[in-house]
Amino acid sequence: MLPSVLPTETDHVPVLADEVLATLAPRPGETIVDCTFGAGGHSTLLAARLRGDGKLIAIDRDPTVAPYFERLRRSTSAKVRLLHGEFSQVLVQLASNGVQADAILLDLGVSSMQLDRPERGFSYAVDAALDMRMDPSAELTASDVVNERAERDLAEIFRRYGEERYARQIARAIVKRRAKQPFERTGDLVEVVKQAIPAPARFGEGHPAKRVFQALRIEVNDELGSLERALPAALEMLRPSGRLAVISFHSLEDRIVKRFLRAEEHGCTCPPEFPVCACGASPTLRATPRRAIRPSAAEIARNPRSQSARLRAAVKLG
Ligand SMILES: C[S@@+](CC[C@H](N)C(=O)[O-])C[C@H]1O[C@@H](n2cnc3c(N)ncnc32)[C@H](O)[C@@H]1O
Repeated sequence: MLPSVLPTETDHVPVLADEVLATLAPRPGETIVDCTFGAGGHSTLLAARLRGDGKLIAIDRDPTVAPYFERLRRSTSAKVRLLHGEFSQVLVQLASNGVQADAILLDLGVSSMQLDRPERGFSYAVDAALDMRMDPSAELTASDVVNERAERDLAEIFRRYGEERYARQIARAIVKRRAKQPFERTGDLVEVVKQAIPAPARFGEGHPAKRVFQALRIEVNDELGSLERALPAALEMLRPSGRLAVISFHSLEDRIVKRFLRAEEHGCTCPPEFPVCACGASPTLRATPRRAIRPSAAEIARNPRSQSARLRAAVKLG
């Protein structure tokens, strides 16, 4: 039976928890790295599998996760450590200090606590300072991006990271409005986005500002860059037969994970027209399973935030 994780109202409910346990399959004596600790939901379940013998290293760039880590520390006799920082950098540091892992988890994106705390500025549903930093000590905020980037850059951010159809119109409206008064609040941005898109589209799929907020969040936290750098660092840190699991929440992240796993599974980097391999690179991992795992209908009903989750997993070859 799974140990109980008792979420409070605003706690994060771990997504695809059974599937993460099945793919990472932690055993006593092993070292687990949870790159995205959050409320520690996955970490608590993974640490329980160590049965008091082994190590769990938790990473998060948000220092407000500390009380959740204290809760984990009290619940387990395994060795646990929390490292504050951006996961790709921390993984590189750990690897350079000779740390090796048997299982590594990345559960990407923001946590429910970050989304539900209005003062963090992630939500289009409540008016708050336009912030969106996962690490409140980081320099770049969402208001810096909105107030300072060129119109063309803003349109590109909304198009690429939000897949927003009206990216150009929204960027133009932002630049017009900020010439009179810079943006400080999420509410102001929501209003400008609503006015910039054609009326019928305002009532289309989801909240009209949803895609712009997603795009800004990805830009402010360099989410795709972190993921691109973290995957090779995680693979490097894994022992042979070590397991990697990545949960993503939108197609941009999932595409990066899928391409990385495919490339590492293939090994050879020679152009397809080469008759024989000249690079000598061999496969480094095996994707298990080959397709992404999605949440069951029952999980989505219990936790609607799991709806867009995709889990990809792999085993490092010896
Ligand atoms: C979806 S939540 C993880 C929830 C966690 N699995 C649980 O069960 O409670 C993602 C967490 O990862 C952190 N995070 C996201 N990207 C990060 C990065 N590049 N480096 C470090 N932490 C990151 C966020 O601050 C957030 O707390």
